[in-house]
Amino acid sequence: MITAVVPDLGQPLLRRAELGDLALPNRVVMAPVTRARAADDGLVPTAMHAAYYAERAGAGLIITEATWVSEQAIGFVNVPGIYSDEQVIAWRRVTDVVHALGGRIVLQLWHTGAASHPDHLAGQLPAGPSAINPHVSSFTPSGFKDTVTPREMTTADIAATVADYRAAAVNARLAGFDGVEIGALGSFLIAQFLNPRLNRRTDAYGGDRGGRRRLLLEIIDAVAAPWEGRRVGVRLGPYWTAGDRFRADEETLADYDALVTELNRHPVAYLHLRGRDLSAPDLTPDVEAIARYRRQFHGPVIANNGFDRESANALIQSGHADAVSFATHFIANPDLVTRFALGRALATGDRDSYYTGGADGYVDYPASSWQDAPREEAAARRT
Ligand SMILES: Cc1cc2nc3c(=O)[nH]c(=O)nc-3n(C[C@H](O)[C@H](O)[C@H](O)COP(=O)(O)O)c2cc1C
Repeated sequence: MITAVVPDLGQPLLRRAELGDLALPNRVVMAPVTRARAADDGLVPTAMHAAYYAERAGAGLIITEATWVSEQAIGFVNVPGIYSDEQVIAWRRVTDVVHALGGRIVLQLWHTGAASHPDHLAGQLPAGPSAINPHVSSFTPSGFKDTVTPREMTTADIAATVADYRAAAVNARLAGFDGVEIGALGSFLIAQFLNPRLNRRTDAYGGDRGGRRRLLLEIIDAVAAPWEGRRVGVRLGPYWTAGDRFRADEETLADYDALVTELNRHPVAYLHLRGRDLSAPDLTPDVEAIARYRRQFHGPVIANNGFDRESANALIQSGHADAVSFATHFIANPDLVTRFALGRALATGDRDSYYTGGADGYVDYPASSWQDAPREEAAARRT
């Protein structure tokens, strides 16, 4: 028997929102997910990228997979860039189809810094804030490899990197994006500069927390310059832990408190926060971990990490965030907004094809149908 589902359009997730100059018809944001499908020498997005994002155009906002700002930024296989003319032209195909379908799309900018590997850089050492190994791994063409001790960036390298970010933002605008998001999380370049265990510089880009955050603030201003209005988001991961270098201790959280307060003085469209990792699959996200930054940042907040329909609606209703982003749910459910609106069950993605497999596990997840079980029935069948 098929149970008809009454749409629940009163959900906070389905309300309109404004994130700076980005006007969203709903608050279901597609989080950035690296899918490693730009399997060509030029790291150019393909026709499959256009199909993949077109299928997800119902999102209130799409934030693309992280994308290289320059060749020096590369540190993962088959990730697209935004530094060549071919890449700009190919991204234009993606933004055109998303816009034609009524969507909005911003490009996430990525630089791996010391978390790259010589295999990505024609044998050259990666560069980072100081000559300290971040002790993470890099996905190279011959598999995951441990990082090495990088060379310390000169001030000229830093100026060139800020200029690369600015050029990437100019290219993103040419490619038709609605804005860009600065990925400042994980174990990558900007987070390396913020980290006192990796940044031992004594110049203006180190020394104390004011120095360590200088690179990010310069990048924000450089990347905002090519746009009119507020179209630059910043993604932070204060709770990120990896190896022996990245940990969310008191000092780290105090650094991020000061940084987020400082963001209020820069042209930031939204703050995209990755909250604490859930320690068990059935736990709900730690709301206080998000609320901490809501109190400090005066602009819109997108929350992320482990949310589902119920916890996301509750978070927005409580006022602790303006929108919620979904990564794994958007991989397996291209029509996630429809499923939320109609209370349909969610599909589960295939982790083995996250980073490999061409079309498989990428553009072949079907949209839901009216015959699919409602959430309640699917949950009841599982118990
Ligand atoms: C396959 C995969 C790729 C990811 N790639 C990125 C990325 O490119 N940039 C980024 O900031 N986060 C990336 N993330 C992290 C997600 O955006 C998100 O923070 C995480 O999956 C938790 O959200 P969720 O519980 O909705 O899945 C990735 C996550 C996954 C599973």
